[in-house]
Amino acid sequence: MSTIETAAVDRTALLPASLRDDFPILSEQVGDRQPLVFFDNAASTQRPRQVIDAISGVYERTYANVHRGIHTLSELSTEQYERARTKVQQFIGAARFHEIVFTQGTTASINTVARSWGDARLRPGDEVLLSVMEHHSNLVPWQQAAARTGAVLQHVPLTGDGRLDMDAFDRLLTERTKLVAVVAVSNTLGTINPIVEIIAKAHAAGALVLVDAAQSAPHLPIDVQALDVDFLAFSGHKMLGPSGVGVLYGKETLLEAMPPFLGGGSMINEVRLDRFTPAALPAKFEAGTPPIVPAIGLGAAIDYLEDIGLGAIHRHELQLTRHAYAALSQIEGLRLLGPAPEHRTGLVSFAFERIHAHEFAQVLNDQFGVAVRAGHHCTQPLHALLGIAASTRASFYLYNTIEEVDRLVEGVLAVTRMFAPKGRQRKRRKPDE
Ligand code: ALA
Repeated sequence: MSTIETAAVDRTALLPASLRDDFPILSEQVGDRQPLVFFDNAASTQRPRQVIDAISGVYERTYANVHRGIHTLSELSTEQYERARTKVQQFIGAARFHEIVFTQGTTASINTVARSWGDARLRPGDEVLLSVMEHHSNLVPWQQAAARTGAVLQHVPLTGDGRLDMDAFDRLLTERTKLVAVVAVSNTLGTINPIVEIIAKAHAAGALVLVDAAQSAPHLPIDVQALDVDFLAFSGHKMLGPSGVGVLYGKETLLEAMPPFLGGGSMINEVRLDRFTPAALPAKFEAGTPPIVPAIGLGAAIDYLEDIGLGAIHRHELQLTRHAYAALSQIEGLRLLGPAPEHRTGLVSFAFERIHAHEFAQVLNDQFGVAVRAGHHCTQPLHALLGIAASTRASFYLYNTIEEVDRLVEGVLAVTRMFAPKGRQRKRRKPDE
């Protein structure tokens, strides 16, 4: 660290480090018996004791299937599951309880819109406007929908510093655009996209808007009514909740008009041998046994996040990001991806010409205990545009500290010294992609 000047940190903007005590896993050691520094939060976060207790409490005392049994446990589980829906509704400011559909995750939520709304509404020549920074989960479902319907995909390019090129957006948004599907925060660049402006312009052009909020719901306040967004998708496991549960928010009128995507139990009103009538919202989109315990765990995660406050979480992460950005940008040969800290949430990704991302991830883990993600982060087209095959990403959350960022920087410096200038070869771990 001797050659790196660190930026001044506003310690009043940091969350108390004592909240780390809520997260048992943070006292684990990894690699060569190093204290864990968990910087892979954009992939999945850790859970506080409050969420773990909520989950085990269900299994220990109240678990049964929901909406099926007239017995005590089924009634208790149903009540807890539906209470979790109310918590999600309040968390995102939705007007109606039944506009919240529990899915398996962001991917399932986007696929539901692509299959249900897309197949019913898109016609040959209609356009879906995406961006080049989309996660594969907001690209592939639309490629599949386009193949089924004859719709055409357009992609908003980037500015030089990794933001959406809004002049190009204005040109690409036409009367042919039926849907704008865009990520609120890039999982690779950290860029916070101007979704307020995008939604207003799309609506003025007669298009609907789907926002992929997987990387924003955990970090920034959301109000779907103020945004007037049509569809919003996010996952529980990126916001302290369990994996296996996600949310699809849709405006009532849209969800009402959409055919169910998956067929089976729960999503029906009545079934004959040759036909069925669908259930009312939200059950129409929740075929089969839903993610009962994950949804209840997500409710507990929302309680935890709301106790701290999304604004305070964002302020904390901004300090970590500024600190990391300022320090890493001083390392010769290291290319930081994406815009300046004020345009991003809590993550930094970088590439280094002579050193593969997997080398960084392996040494950071083994020798420094720092867990980062290395690879293309499910944004292969974005990496191709940036002219790189892979990058290393450190993504922060409310339990990370400035001292941990220093550990990352120390590790990155050590790797650059270890491998440069000759780029000594090390045995690589299996790629994550
Ligand atoms: N979408 C997750 C990530 O960015 C998995 O790592």
